[in-house]
Amino acid sequence: MYSRDHWKSKLGFILAAVGSAVGLGNIWKFPYVVGKNGGSAFIAIYLACVILVGIPILIVEIYLGKKSQLNPVGAFRFFQKGKVPFSLIGYAGVLCGIIILSYYSVITGWICHYLMLSFRGFSGSETEISEIFTALNANPWLNIAWHTFVMAAVMMILAKGVRKGIEAASKILMPMLGVLLLVLVCYSLTLDGMKEAWRFLTYPDFSRVTGSSFLEALGTSFFTLSLGMGAMITYGSYLKGEVNITKSAVQIASIDTLIAFLSGIVIFPIVFTNNLEPSAGPGLIFKTLPVLFSKMPGGHIVSIAFFALVLFAAITSAISLLEVATSFMVDEYKCSRTKAVLIMGTVIWLLGILSAVSYWNVAGTPFLDLFDKIASCYMLPLGGLCSALVFGWAISKKQKYSEIGSKPINKILLFAAKYISPVLLLLVFIKEIGLF
Ligand code: PFF
Repeated sequence: MYSRDHWKSKLGFILAAVGSAVGLGNIWKFPYVVGKNGGSAFIAIYLACVILVGIPILIVEIYLGKKSQLNPVGAFRFFQKGKVPFSLIGYAGVLCGIIILSYYSVITGWICHYLMLSFRGFSGSETEISEIFTALNANPWLNIAWHTFVMAAVMMILAKGVRKGIEAASKILMPMLGVLLLVLVCYSLTLDGMKEAWRFLTYPDFSRVTGSSFLEALGTSFFTLSLGMGAMITYGSYLKGEVNITKSAVQIASIDTLIAFLSGIVIFPIVFTNNLEPSAGPGLIFKTLPVLFSKMPGGHIVSIAFFALVLFAAITSAISLLEVATSFMVDEYKCSRTKAVLIMGTVIWLLGILSAVSYWNVAGTPFLDLFDKIASCYMLPLGGLCSALVFGWAISKKQKYSEIGSKPINKILLFAAKYISPVLLLLVFIKEIGLF
């Protein structure tokens, strides 16, 4: 008889959820999006999005999972009212996880490659170092090899189960990530560019904020909190007994935001000390930083610490992405966890090959960019919107209060989940499909 695995402790759940949330989105995407949108003014907007949309939707997802004790497809079916097939939202979530992991694994492979190179140290001229990335991109076999390595590692962890795999890995990797991040923050504090970086991160320059900064802030906060595709529903479904959902959601969102901010504290002083533009774009950590690592004293060690940090963050997020598809197979098709991991892992590995071969494209857009666009710009906000609607309108107040509590703070957050978050998510979606 199949019995559902559960977290051993609440701390295990928090670490696993933070592990899912903290990833490439925080360390790679957040700093360059902040750079592009003018620094701290953008951070203020980002914080507002986390509070108004991120935390409420996090509560919604954890609730849906915990109450139903099922994967996203089963969870939405559990709350089904009338004839509208809610489970479709769950299917879209599973598909979205498959799409995201297929390219997330390729990018994680790049991190592995840079970590290996860090052990040797970066040397050569600026052009030579930034060309490492171009060469890596142009080498499909190397990309496929790293992608295979990452998928195999993630599959091995997941095959061990919720407690012995996900929870155990998070309990090791997240504290290591915390230590590495603090070491790097201390290092950055000693750099000359720290003052300028601090000013950039804390002194708001609203002149660089545009209408699309708001939407970008919302989209980024949603991606970094792993919302909109059922990852938090799945992790919530491994909770049992008394759990303060609001408190957990606030803790997860706060740690995630703090880590994104600290990543900025690590990266911007390095950028400013070397007179570079903070808006260097997605190439920031693969092209710009290695050049700086090659020049600065102790850069060798700093680059090992930096890429190890990013790797740990990416692996724990990849774990949660594969777990969505795995729990779907286990619950819906009653297959063993090992079989589910093997089937879904192989499907994602095959799909990832499209992103690993950078010159394969659709009308000039490489698969990696295309998948990122489809998943993070369209599917995640839409998934979040649907979850908020189901939670807000198909579940009675009584049911919600019995699980979440009816303290004033919970009432405010549930109000935000029912009215504010759906409206803002709808705006993001409409903007993404180009209607304004
Ligand atoms: N939150 C992860 C990051 O910031 O990199 C990405 C992610 C993981 C998105 C899991 C969605 C998800 F379900």
